[in-house]
Amino acid sequence: MGKKITVSVIKADVGGYVGHSAMHPDLIEEANNRLEGAQHQEKIIDYHVTACGDDLELIMTHRNGTDNRDIHQMSWEIFESCSDTAHRLGLYGAGQDLLSDAFSGNIRGMGPGVAEMEFEERESEPILIFLADKTSAGAWNLPLYKMFADPFNTAGLAISPSMHAGFRFEVHDVKNHKRIIFDAPEELYDLLVFIGAAGQYLIKSIYTKDNEIGAVSSTERLALIAGKYVGKDDPALVVRCQGKFPAVGEALEPFTMPQIVEGWMRGSHYGPLMPVPVQQATPSRFDGPPRVIALGFQLAGGHLVGPRDMFDDPGFDRAREKTNELSDLLRRHGPFEPHRLPMEAMEYTTLPDVMKKLEGRWEPLD
Ligand code: F6R
Ligand code: MG
Ligand code: MG
Repeated sequence: MGKKITVSVIKADVGGYVGHSAMHPDLIEEANNRLEGAQHQEKIIDYHVTACGDDLELIMTHRNGTDNRDIHQMSWEIFESCSDTAHRLGLYGAGQDLLSDAFSGNIRGMGPGVAEMEFEERESEPILIFLADKTSAGAWNLPLYKMFADPFNTAGLAISPSMHAGFRFEVHDVKNHKRIIFDAPEELYDLLVFIGAAGQYLIKSIYTKDNEIGAVSSTERLALIAGKYVGKDDPALVVRCQGKFPAVGEALEPFTMPQIVEGWMRGSHYGPLMPVPVQQATPSRFDGPPRVIALGFQLAGGHLVGPRDMFDDPGFDRAREKTNELSDLLRRHGPFEPHRLPMEAMEYTTLPDVMKKLEGRWEPLD
């Protein structure tokens, strides 16, 4: 058995309650029972099950490394049995993210979102797990940039000798299946050229300059996998904190700005991302506004001590108020841009089917 610990966050929407707004407690119970069994059989060290909106999230620790077949297969089977429960309860969109009939070795590309990292646990290992609903994987680009590259957010980049060298960013081009590595602060402007376009270029992971992993995100884009609209990607993010990484408060600080993200109603609108306690991760107004939760854990020999519900803090009240103000303003635009996504992004929604019906009605101009 290696010394290294793997943290795996694997998530899927396998049925909403009511509509796409939240999670039925029976699905959480089902996933908890399954993972308790896996812990008894020593397949995993520890686990925590949670939900953000209509997404079921399995947080697991083990020693098998990333992309492990057994862990992925077990997660797939848990989602399948939770889908069965969802079907039985008549929940909405039961099994929606399971894009394949059978498991094929790795859960990536089959619908669920995956964020996994392997590392040697430090004497004290604080980690934050961010989960979002009614948005897409690009939502982490801006907060990750602030956490790991912006000294106006992260004081440690200027003040702390252990962070002063900066970080290394791995960016994926999810449309062309390519990746590139940027060093910050040396190549900040090059990095921003790409990550500012968060629909295509996604920060996958971040490393220290001596190659210790600090953050990893899920970058699955369902529409690109399925070739059509199948709901939003509702991403996950794992961040290691303190010491050579951002302090817990530095990692949370970016969420005081109600960032405008794509998602919200029918995955077709821009809306502000609201940081909320787990209990309030139940997007209902116009199926939103988009939500983000943050669970804090201390790892102890791979055991998950926690979680602490990090946005359950009056320090984020102002961000929530601003989100509501911005929501009012954007909603008043109704079906007009910039509330509705630009045409290029609408390609991945249900709009093209409506446009097809009107194709024959267009006449050439003289
Ligand atoms: C957005 C989302 C919801 C649905 C909307 C329509 O990510 O999940 O806003 O798009 O409720 O849902 P359907 O098409 O399932 O009736
Ligand atoms: Mg759903
Ligand atoms: Mg969702």
